[in-house]
Amino acid sequence: MPPSANIIWANATPPTSTCYRVLMWEPCALPAELTAEWSNRRRELLSRMRDAGIKGARGTLNQLENELKSLTVKLIEEPLAQAPRAAFSFARAEALGKALQAHGAVLAYRLGTATAEILLQIQGEESMADMLSAWQAATPGMDWCTQPIVQAMNAAEGTAWQQECHSESEPELDTPEYTTGEFHHVTVLLNEAVQALQPTVGKVMVDATLGGGGHTERLLQAGAEVWGIDQDPAARAAAKARLAEYGEKLHVVAGNFRNAAEMLRKHGVQEVDGLLADIGISSPQVDCAERGFSFLHEGPLDMRMNPSAPRSAADIVNTAPESELADILWQYGEERASRAIARRIVQERAKAPITTTTQLADLIATVLPRKGKQHPATRSFQALRIAVNDELGALEELLHTGLSLLKSGGRFAVITFHSLEDRAVKRYFELVTKPEIDRPEWPAPRPNPAYAARLVYRKPITPAEEELSANPRSRSAKLRVIEKL
Ligand SMILES: C[S@@+](CC[C@H](N)C(=O)[O-])C[C@H]1O[C@@H](n2cnc3c(N)ncnc32)[C@H](O)[C@@H]1O
Repeated sequence: MPPSANIIWANATPPTSTCYRVLMWEPCALPAELTAEWSNRRRELLSRMRDAGIKGARGTLNQLENELKSLTVKLIEEPLAQAPRAAFSFARAEALGKALQAHGAVLAYRLGTATAEILLQIQGEESMADMLSAWQAATPGMDWCTQPIVQAMNAAEGTAWQQECHSESEPELDTPEYTTGEFHHVTVLLNEAVQALQPTVGKVMVDATLGGGGHTERLLQAGAEVWGIDQDPAARAAAKARLAEYGEKLHVVAGNFRNAAEMLRKHGVQEVDGLLADIGISSPQVDCAERGFSFLHEGPLDMRMNPSAPRSAADIVNTAPESELADILWQYGEERASRAIARRIVQERAKAPITTTTQLADLIATVLPRKGKQHPATRSFQALRIAVNDELGALEELLHTGLSLLKSGGRFAVITFHSLEDRAVKRYFELVTKPEIDRPEWPAPRPNPAYAARLVYRKPITPAEEELSANPRSRSAKLRVIEKL
């Protein structure tokens, strides 16, 4: 798909003296020059708003963005989730256009390929350019600037793009939004995890964290069939592209691994021989500034692995009560200055919402001066990421349902990257591998009703020296494995 096909922007007829723009973009899919164009436009808008003396320019923009997001959720995503595609009518797209117009807004919103494809289908339009014309007709007051899309996408490209969209064997409502660009993730504990899972021809395995497909590739090479789950469209797209040669042996499933058992049963898979979860984020997620995971790169305060998830880091930072913020920072980041940071966030957001990664990082640095090598925002960013993606909740659910997916003799391997995750895995694996439980108040040990597996390794496997020096990001990785009885 030509990446530039995803960019649509419009000059709304300004309801005030300030000119706002509507920009729909797909950040990670864009080539650098278009991303730069988007950043420039945003910067220009912000400075124009500031120059115009608009109080709280950033806040206004952020508020407008949030309003548009909610509108889009209300007008597009919710109806899509609830209704069959056919029920989502042109009227809704029209309503969206009108709503944008009513807000007079120049806002930013992602138009994922999924949304684009669905809009094309429901509007019965042949191409993005035709759809845009329909939108223009539906919003007479709005001066849509179609230049980038129309110029960038000729008829042949448009047809190829549509064919690509429609040839997806299993259309998903959230098909990848980030379909292009490099995806570099160095797989951690590759040999160790694959060895533990014992893949062979005829075995069926689940990779609950497909990522760039590093582990899955080795499982496929050993002849196994793999169901790869990921909630990140960029990861799914990258893995599909990388592993295309394995054809029907790989099934890519969109969703949260907390629902792995349910999702696979929907596909008719009752039991599998192995289940792998390499918990956490991938390098491309951290390294892509637009995903908002890193305090090192200026980007929107987002942190959602699944870009359609309802709550971003900015939502938490700007709306959670002070006590909840402090709890998040303390529980998920073990941040000792959690209360002071939460207080400072609340003071700052009262002036204007906190919308970018560096804004938050700089603010934390005012509370917690830098000591040593670690940036003072490290723990807070980890905490927010865990909260945004409910990472511990999802892991607990995977742990509690994973064993039910395994055949007798099937193996469950989990790689974790920080103590909170490892503690959850260790505790659960201990629970299910003890034949008996004992309590001081009991006269004798009793049979453990949860007993269902044996530990494959008594201690967690950690990366060897060679891996540690080649990939410093692997330093905190731990692999634990159990085998179903
Ligand atoms: C560390 S990466 C996996 C890398 C992969 N093993 C490889 O070698 O390329 C973790 C991946 O799991 C995904 N992920 C994390 N939590 C998830 C969840 N609850 N449900 C589905 N996917 C999740 C992330 O989006 C990310 O792509």
